[in-house]
Amino acid sequence: MKGLILSGGKGTRLYPLTYTRAKQLIPVANKPVLFRVIEAIRDAGITEIGIIIGDTGPEIREAVGDGSQFGVEITYIPQDAPLGLAHAVKIAHDFIGDDRFVMFLGDNVIQGGISPLIADFAHHDEWNSQIVLTAVEFPEQYGVAQLNADGRIERLIEKPKQPPSNLALVGIYMFDHHIFEATEEIKPSFRGELEITDAIQWLIENGYSVYPHIHTGWWIDTGRPGDMLTANSLVLEELTPEIKGTVDAESEVDTRVTIQDGAEIINSVIRGPAIIGQNTKIVNSYVGPFTSIYHDVVIENSEIERSIVLEHSTVCNIPTRIQDSLIGRHASVGINTLRPKAIKMHLGDHSRLELL
Ligand code: TTP
Repeated sequence: MKGLILSGGKGTRLYPLTYTRAKQLIPVANKPVLFRVIEAIRDAGITEIGIIIGDTGPEIREAVGDGSQFGVEITYIPQDAPLGLAHAVKIAHDFIGDDRFVMFLGDNVIQGGISPLIADFAHHDEWNSQIVLTAVEFPEQYGVAQLNADGRIERLIEKPKQPPSNLALVGIYMFDHHIFEATEEIKPSFRGELEITDAIQWLIENGYSVYPHIHTGWWIDTGRPGDMLTANSLVLEELTPEIKGTVDAESEVDTRVTIQDGAEIINSVIRGPAIIGQNTKIVNSYVGPFTSIYHDVVIENSEIERSIVLEHSTVCNIPTRIQDSLIGRHASVGINTLRPKAIKMHLGDHSRLELL
């Protein structure tokens, strides 16, 4: 069995963070989402993994390398343009060959890993495909599956007005080589993409068996900033706390806090679940629950809660608490003490600033 991770795409919904960075490399609880995906596949016993890359390929290659840091072997598969999930499968044909494989969207985070799913599919040699589904509150916003009396998937419908079930497609799929027949046969959709739902529907209509795997834990597609913060909170809840950096006698650190190597907590309060990255300094500040501060950051005389701060940023002397925020790399958030007194900003395209 092989693994295929989709890490191309444009990430437009996460602009401006993804103008300059692959969205799959944005960390959740201080670990890039893509690393979590690779580890989930590896933990299910799969070591041959292909990664689809697009414009952000060089950055992904640099971060992931040959895979040895994860104990896997990575093959990169460049995609000229994000022409759809089924297009990504099509161009992976040489890498996959005749093997069965799991396909995982590189921006999804799932609770509990994928070992049960892999075991299920491996146990049923006769199944041509298995699709991970999960019950959602608003199925009309997702791709939804309709099951037949035998428990197989009968139909997939994209964002149905009248959903036949509340079972939505999670970004994890298992296939055998018949999927390559489907990706050759289907045509691009109205948005110009080869849709994976069309490819799966083709399998069903051509007599191949497609079974569901119902996932009961949480699952997050980190496509939008709010999803990123939710995923961060959920993963932080499950982190095993560890204190490696230093905490001075004046500071108060909760039991559910991870402090990574070289971090310094000075006269501050950290309430978990939270994580403070390598060589980051928290000085005279409050870091509240569900916050991930990444490496080489300085937080001084400020309060921050339920937020993500990326590397090399500074947050200093902010008089009100920062909440529900995503702060990119090398960002500087501070107070202007010079006259004329005014708010001064250098915001990238698509930035959002909400003042009190
Ligand atoms: P999407 O979130 O559907 O697309 P996107 O990454 O372009 O994001 P946005 O809608 O914000 O512009 O993609 C899901 C995952 O699949 C993501 O990790 C990117 C990857 N992908 C590819 O590798 N190739 C593709 O052709 C597409 C459409 C997505």
